[in-house]
Amino acid sequence: MKIQRRSFIAAMAAMAACAACAADPASAPAGKEELLKWFLDNVYGHAPIGRPKDMTFAGNSIVFGGGKMKVDLTVALPASASKEKPCPVLVMGDFRTWNNGMRDDASSKKQKQQQDDIDAFVVSRGYAIVHYNLNEATPDQPRRRELEALKKAGKPLPPYAYGLFEVYGGEKDRTATSWGTIRSWAWCHSRVLDWIEAQPMLDAKRVAVLGHSRLGKTAICAGVTDPRFKVVYSNASGCGGAKLNRMDLPRSEHIHQITRGFPYWFCQNFNAWRGRDKEIPHDQDEWMGLIASPTRYLYVASGSTDHWAGPAGEKAAAEGAAKAWEALGLKGMGGHVGYHCHEGPHDLGVRDVKLFLDFCDTRL
Ligand code: GCU
Repeated sequence: MKIQRRSFIAAMAAMAACAACAADPASAPAGKEELLKWFLDNVYGHAPIGRPKDMTFAGNSIVFGGGKMKVDLTVALPASASKEKPCPVLVMGDFRTWNNGMRDDASSKKQKQQQDDIDAFVVSRGYAIVHYNLNEATPDQPRRRELEALKKAGKPLPPYAYGLFEVYGGEKDRTATSWGTIRSWAWCHSRVLDWIEAQPMLDAKRVAVLGHSRLGKTAICAGVTDPRFKVVYSNASGCGGAKLNRMDLPRSEHIHQITRGFPYWFCQNFNAWRGRDKEIPHDQDEWMGLIASPTRYLYVASGSTDHWAGPAGEKAAAEGAAKAWEALGLKGMGGHVGYHCHEGPHDLGVRDVKLFLDFCDTRL
């Protein structure tokens, strides 16, 4: 079913008039639900389950999937955190996810340093940070290949040898709308939020989700699918994240490139849009606009020379998404939506996190 952009804006305006909807996004008018369904059917895929009944917490670990799944969280708390004064929290996929545990090369060392610097900075600003290796949820495809090689060689497997695709569904049961890796990682971010709700030192009502690049795509997906995330920050997320598909940006990544390079990140139906970026009926501004509510916020950032991610397309999508807040009678850009573009390449550094936390300080 094709949903006209008009009907989305009308649905947002109807929400503005509906106090109950504002308090409970699940009761939003049909336009919003239909739009969400379109994106899940065509781009990200559907999660087969919600919160697993068998999920348990053991210290900083989350265990579920009949004991096959164990996600170990790295948690850094500010000195100010206490049970009497729980602190706001940032959730992110570990910046070291690509290489964590498998390699020890120069780029891994740089990523580890970047994550450590971000953690120290976040904590110094009075926020807690919780991150984890996303391979423990669903191995990114290169990790899968490495797992296969280890299996063949009869070597011991790392703890994340299973993954959500195997535990909930299995490859053979996949359909054209089954979840891709990004949706599965976003689902796992929600499980981290479940864990945060059980921590007395952390304020589960003040949680932001953020990420860089593929993890920025994941942060938006988590924010759209789980209204408990109050602020959503996508850094250099590009195609499948904050970049508009329909905008003419020849140097940026297009649907045919991302679905060939990383087909497993999305549902199978996304392949149908190869070479048809400009025809896609709903673009990423509408995807991010689904986060809009009087109590929720969006932040997008780019790098000026990150042509692959398409900074102009990310900025335009943030401005487009801001219209969803405006339809609720709220201030879009500079109000519920923030944006910055750092000078330089595809990167997430302390300079970006600083600007993001400046945004959060008055909103989270
Ligand atoms: C590739 C991919 C991008 C992705 C990036 C990353 O460059 O084409 O879509 O954002 O990897 O996650 O590092």
